[in-house]
Amino acid sequence: MMRKVSGVLALLCAAMLAGCGGGEGGGAGDSITVGFSQVGAESEWRTANTRSVKEALAPPEFNLRFSDAQQKQENQIKALRSFIAQGVDVIAFSPVVETGWDTVLQEAKAAGIPVVLTDRAVKVSDESLYATFIGSDFVEEGRRAARWVIEDSEGKPGPIRIVELQGTVGSAPANDRMRGFKEVIGEDDRFVIVRSQSGDFTRAKGKEVMEAFLKAEGGNIDVLFAHNDDMAIGAIQAIEEAGLKPGTDIRIVSIDGVRGAFEAMKAGKLNATVECNPLLGPQLAQLIRDVHAGREVPRRVVVEEGVFTQDQAEAELPNRKY
Ligand code: AHR
Repeated sequence: MMRKVSGVLALLCAAMLAGCGGGEGGGAGDSITVGFSQVGAESEWRTANTRSVKEALAPPEFNLRFSDAQQKQENQIKALRSFIAQGVDVIAFSPVVETGWDTVLQEAKAAGIPVVLTDRAVKVSDESLYATFIGSDFVEEGRRAARWVIEDSEGKPGPIRIVELQGTVGSAPANDRMRGFKEVIGEDDRFVIVRSQSGDFTRAKGKEVMEAFLKAEGGNIDVLFAHNDDMAIGAIQAIEEAGLKPGTDIRIVSIDGVRGAFEAMKAGKLNATVECNPLLGPQLAQLIRDVHAGREVPRRVVVEEGVFTQDQAEAELPNRKY
C-alpha cells in the first residue's frame, strides 16, 4: 500500500515538473516563448536542422513561434520585429547573411529580449547585441575540404583546375568556407581555382551553375568544391548530362554529410563530404534555458564534426540521422 502511494506521489511530482518546464523558469504552466527565424528550406541540411529545432523547442517547456524567411534577410528582419512586438522571452535565429543586423538587434536589446544565434554568425559593431552563438566552424570546414583535395591529388602534376560552387552570397558559410579552402589550397601551387560562382545552396542552382562551368571550361575541370552537398548533387546531374563521370573525370568534395551525399558516395559519384552537423536543437534549447534564467553562457559553442570518404559511405549510411 505504502509503495503504491509513493508511486502515485512520484508520478504527480513528475507531472508537475513537466508542467513547469522540467523545473526551469518558475511556476506551473510557465513556458519559455521563443521566436525562431529560420533561413529557409533550401537544403537537406536545413530540413534536418528545422526538425531538430522544432523537436527540442517543444511544449510544454517551450512555446515556439517559428518563421521561415525563404532565404531573404528582409523577411528575417520583419520576423524579428514581430517577435519583439509580441514580447517573446528569447529570440533565436539563423541569419541568412552576416551583415545588416545592428538596428534590429539594438531594438531587441532595448526591449530586453536576449538573442541566441544558431548555425550562422553575424558581423555587428557591438558584440553585446547577442548572448551566444552555437554553430559549426565553417572556416575549418573549408580547410578540411582543401586538405582532402590535396591528399587526393598526391603525385598528380599541376595545373589542377578547380571549380567552386559557393553558397548564398554574403552568408557566413559561403564566406568562411571559401576563406578556409583558399587558405589551405593556396599553399600548394599546383592548384588553380578557375571558376567560382554562387549556387545559393540549392540543387537546382548547383546544377545550373555547373552547366555553365562545363560550357565554359569543357572537359578542363579536375575538381569540384561545392559549399554544400545539395549543390554537389545538382552538379553531379549536370556532369552526367555532359557525358562525363562524376567522381572519376571530376573529383568532387562538398560539405554537410547529409544522407543524399552518402548515397552519392556509395554510387561512386561524390568522393568526400565534410560533416556539418544540423542537429543543433538540444544544445540550442539548453542555451535558451540558460539565457532565459539569466545564467552565464559561453559566447561561442562549436559543434564537433569530421570528414567522410567513399570507402566509409556504405558502413556509415545506416548510422546517418539526417
Ligand atoms: O548554414 C549551414 C548551411 O546552410 C549548410 O551547409 C547548407 O546546406 C545550408 O543551406
